Amino acid sequence: MCGIVGVIGARQAAPLILDALKRLEYRGYDSAGIAAVAGDGTMDRVRAAGKLRNLEQRLDSHPLDGGTGIGHTRWATHGAPTDANAHPHVASPVAVVHNGIIENYRALRQKLQAEGAVLTSETDTETIAHILAHELAQGADLKSAIEATLSQLEGAYALAFSFAGQPQLLAAARFGSPLAIGLASDMKMIGSDAIALAPFCDEIVYLEDGDFAILTQSRLDIYDRDGHPVEREAVPVPMQVSLAEKGNYRHFMAKEIHEQPEVIARTLSHYIDVGSGTLRDGAVPIDFSQIRRLSIAACGTAYYAGLVSRYWFERLARLPVDLDVASEYRYRAQAFPADELALFISQSGETADTLAGLRAAKAGGQQLATVVNVPTSTMAREADIVLPTLAGPEIGVASTKAFTCQLATLACLAVKAGIDRGTLSPLDAEGFLSALVELPRLVAEAVTLEHSIERVAKLVAPASSALFLGRGTSFAVAMEGALKLKELSYIHAEAYAAGELKHGPIALVDEELPVIVIAPFDDLFAKTVSNMQEVHARGGRIIAVTDARGAHAIGDTAEELIVLPDVPAFVAPVVATIPLQLLAYHAAIINGTDVDQPRNLAKSVTVE
Ligand code: F6R
Repeated sequence: MCGIVGVIGARQAAPLILDALKRLEYRGYDSAGIAAVAGDGTMDRVRAAGKLRNLEQRLDSHPLDGGTGIGHTRWATHGAPTDANAHPHVASPVAVVHNGIIENYRALRQKLQAEGAVLTSETDTETIAHILAHELAQGADLKSAIEATLSQLEGAYALAFSFAGQPQLLAAARFGSPLAIGLASDMKMIGSDAIALAPFCDEIVYLEDGDFAILTQSRLDIYDRDGHPVEREAVPVPMQVSLAEKGNYRHFMAKEIHEQPEVIARTLSHYIDVGSGTLRDGAVPIDFSQIRRLSIAACGTAYYAGLVSRYWFERLARLPVDLDVASEYRYRAQAFPADELALFISQSGETADTLAGLRAAKAGGQQLATVVNVPTSTMAREADIVLPTLAGPEIGVASTKAFTCQLATLACLAVKAGIDRGTLSPLDAEGFLSALVELPRLVAEAVTLEHSIERVAKLVAPASSALFLGRGTSFAVAMEGALKLKELSYIHAEAYAAGELKHGPIALVDEELPVIVIAPFDDLFAKTVSNMQEVHARGGRIIAVTDARGAHAIGDTAEELIVLPDVPAFVAPVVATIPLQLLAYHAAIINGTDVDQPRNLAKSVTVE
């Protein structure tokens, strides 16, 4: 979603804001802008449609003066990505940047226009500047004016304000979208997340939902949703955010794919004592013997991690699992039985739909757990049980290492569930855990296949459409593979359960269609090979992702074989994911798309 930055301090604000925006560009990148207030109170603003580099070029010829300012990198919701719709929006003396959606903006806009306000953009955000300017014009002090403004907004927002004529003043507010305040010796900052603030600040204050803040160079006053002054703890800048650099890699995504052996190992060692090959005491603080059903909700890639885990929970623990995409979960009229555990999976911990699902389950009185990568995120703070993935910051918009770390975590949970429910003998549990301990090495082996996958990518990249097939956990992996290919290379890709092919999608098969089949040599292998034959008989171009035993059996039914190491079926979905990530990555490079920032997307989707 959009990225927000604010700066108040002794240094020039605009270059700092630009630097921080670069670290937030993964949140949205269709336009950007900065407004700064000079020492004499003059406010000036520069905006540009397109990537941040366009704004940077404009700032070269039109530098902004002043130690106070706000900036924004946008993921468009209301109005096309044009200069006029780029933030900050101004209604003198107020400038505002916004992440989120104001749902009642039409009514607000009509009311403002009827009162004579002239709105110059199509955004929901501009209305906020006008309302606050109006409240201030009525003579309200800043705190009351902000309260009156926020009380009129319906929807989600993280906001930062600066004020013409007030070179020593910034304000911020959050409801439903994350916002943090960074503290340094000579300045304060506002930012959508700690990643933006880390290089410049020593400490971070995370605003709670409903909070608003007024900042001067010497003061930080925070108020809760009722307007009462509150203290929010300042915590040291988290170490891991400083890891968010590309290193020698061409793209964050490449770096993140290659980091997987290391971060999976780090995540597993949080849950497994590698020395004894047992689960660490207390690492999974859930007694699955007391749970009748697990309900899982998540979005996108995190949902597919949930889909893989459903097979694991059912097989290892005979635990019924209900699984939903969070945007559906939240609107279902659910019963929320008391003996059910609600589990939410999220890299960012801020995804609006997943967070809303979590809150719905909380309102339903359920126990909440979250598998989450950002320990300071809203979901981590609101869940009863936090099960961390230790993937480190994921900057590439397409999720890679967060997904495999989610799988590693969920696999540990499934083993714990099997132990608790008595469906796994100690020996079985030991076997599953030792398979997990081997995972980093197996993933490292899979990454070495990159060269041969580059060749396969040449076959896929020119296609206008691709099919991904698999059964069992490989079906879930196929779904993730199809998502990666479409979001990175813009090739239409669909995944089907291999057995479903004959019920319709087989009509798509012709000599042009690449069909990527995930077929490890497991108990469903023979069935998947039959489906492969059906494609082959109709001239489809099969790319089989298999292992050494599978490759032997598939033979020349496939035009291309991607041969993974032979691995236990339990961990096969994690290993099989790697070539699909690499395939999407290289197809995107061949097609010349923007790997780290694919069109129309943004990381951390904080709107519905
Ligand atoms: C796809 C991707 C998205 C996210 C989804 C959920 O590559 O990254 O589908 O997985 O937006 O995001 P989180 O995990 O932050 O809740």
